[in-house]
Amino acid sequence: MTTPSPAPESTIVDGIHYHQHDIVIVGAGGAGMRAAIEAGPNASTAVISKLYPTRSHTGAAQGGMAAALANVEDDNWEWHTFDTVKGGDYLVDQDAAEILAKEAIDAVLDLENMGLPFNRTPEGKIDQRRFGGHTAEHGKNPVRRACYAADRTGHMILQTLYQNCVKHGINFFNEFYVLDLIMGEIDGEERPAGVIAYELSTGDLHVFQGKAVIFATGGFGKIYKTTSNAHTLTGDGVGIIWRKGLPLEDMEFFQFHPTGLAGLGILLSEAARGEGAILRNSEGERFMERYAPTIKDLAPRDIVARCMATEIREGRGAGPHKDYVYLDITHLDPAVIDAKLPDITEFARTYLGVEPYTEPVPVLPTAHYAMGGIPTNVKAEVLRDNTTVVPGLYAAGECACVSVHGSNRLGTNSLLDINVFGKRAGNNAVEFVKDAPWVPLPDDPAAFVRGLVDDVRFATGTERIATLRKELQDSMDRNAQVFRTEETLDEVTHVIADLRERFKNISVQDKGKRFNTDLLEAIELGFLLDLAEVVVYSARSRQESRGGHFREDYPTRDDENWLVHTMAYLTGDAHSSLAGDHIRLDTKPVVITNYQPMERKY
Ligand code: FUM
Repeated sequence: MTTPSPAPESTIVDGIHYHQHDIVIVGAGGAGMRAAIEAGPNASTAVISKLYPTRSHTGAAQGGMAAALANVEDDNWEWHTFDTVKGGDYLVDQDAAEILAKEAIDAVLDLENMGLPFNRTPEGKIDQRRFGGHTAEHGKNPVRRACYAADRTGHMILQTLYQNCVKHGINFFNEFYVLDLIMGEIDGEERPAGVIAYELSTGDLHVFQGKAVIFATGGFGKIYKTTSNAHTLTGDGVGIIWRKGLPLEDMEFFQFHPTGLAGLGILLSEAARGEGAILRNSEGERFMERYAPTIKDLAPRDIVARCMATEIREGRGAGPHKDYVYLDITHLDPAVIDAKLPDITEFARTYLGVEPYTEPVPVLPTAHYAMGGIPTNVKAEVLRDNTTVVPGLYAAGECACVSVHGSNRLGTNSLLDINVFGKRAGNNAVEFVKDAPWVPLPDDPAAFVRGLVDDVRFATGTERIATLRKELQDSMDRNAQVFRTEETLDEVTHVIADLRERFKNISVQDKGKRFNTDLLEAIELGFLLDLAEVVVYSARSRQESRGGHFREDYPTRDDENWLVHTMAYLTGDAHSSLAGDHIRLDTKPVVITNYQPMERKY
């Protein structure tokens, strides 16, 4: 371990705070902190986060982290790669999936060495459980591949990474909301010069100059109403990249996790099914036996979510309105439930008043994870087109699209992704900054953010942010959820265009500077509108069904025309109200190494 170069003191010029760090990491969830653990000991590193780090959304991930350790059953990284590719309906870049599955083993051991309290087998090895789509021998039967800490694996990862960041003396800037990426030019090449952040407690603006910038800002599930995502998951980082004119990849692929608490969307971990829970319709039937006879309730999430929605559509939904199905764990030993699923069973009691020991729990698919995002290569370098790297700019975790998840992520591959590609981003940024020059800042680097914040703070229109956000989320739930058609996507396109227009006439009541959540929510809504539009526009264009994107008007997978990634580019003003007219779509080839696309049977 080398000693990091000390960060120069920050300065204040004309009321703006200036900081300089070799590496600036935006986001303090799993990917950001994993990057920081590599970067911090080797280069001056700042981590900037909208939240206190241990409140980041990684903490909500429950069931486990995949790695073919073979601690309890025969397993290997090649089977894991195959499952990831097949689970992603063959849109996965297979070179990236190989890296994910191979480096998974060390990623888990790194965490163990950092002190993560994994559940153990009686012999003291890291215990492993089943999860959807993870199989032995290329689909023969489910395999125990998920390493876990009860149903709080993400929470434990977050705490462990944070403690290790503290140990390494990483500089955290908590409750700083990054609102812009500053680009500059070196030798005719565009590179990041730093980011601009708004300090939530004071309203002050901060310029963070960096030689390398890593985005690790998470997802944007709040474009939907029914979601497992926290209120903060508004896609700010992805939105910033979009507004800079860089592309976004595969945005039409959004994952709906089968088991959200009905009516609320709060996550009930797939670990429950990994431990033996069963999905039942109103007739008490284990309906997944009909759809996926080999692995039943442990089929990948896109399939299970569609089967649940089909049961409900065909009249076999449960409850007074026949609009949910049941997750049944009543046959499990209460001691197993308490040891392995303590949090989610408590959620069922607290939020629905249901006792999971004795009663089935009402569940419904919930918007959970964005497979698409900022395109990167396997070094976590951001791409400005299909192949060209933006030197010094990195992205990792849910905000990025590398693409290891293709059109449908397997459960437990997300906690893995943040560790493998967070580490890669940190290491590659360290290498990069060794020889990289500082990119000069423009004269007034904070000008854009000052204007953005002032425009919102002093807005005196008539439209309320909460109303606009609700209309967006309701329409996304109705029109761009598990099932879509051209008609429903057209409808939500018009809703978004209307909301964009009305967004110009918002009112913000709080004109103050300290913890102005009114202002924060207005800015976040701007990002949500931008990203929802890219999701819908990309979904309208893809005339096939694959993974998390199911077009009822094009119900089959079409490898001849659509075995390609979608690349969306902003061609004009992101705030133009003409939905879609400022978005250009292109394609990018899928990397295929060992596995030719086949029919997905489970
Ligand atoms: O169901 C779960 O525990 C979620 C895990 C994941 O999304 O990877």
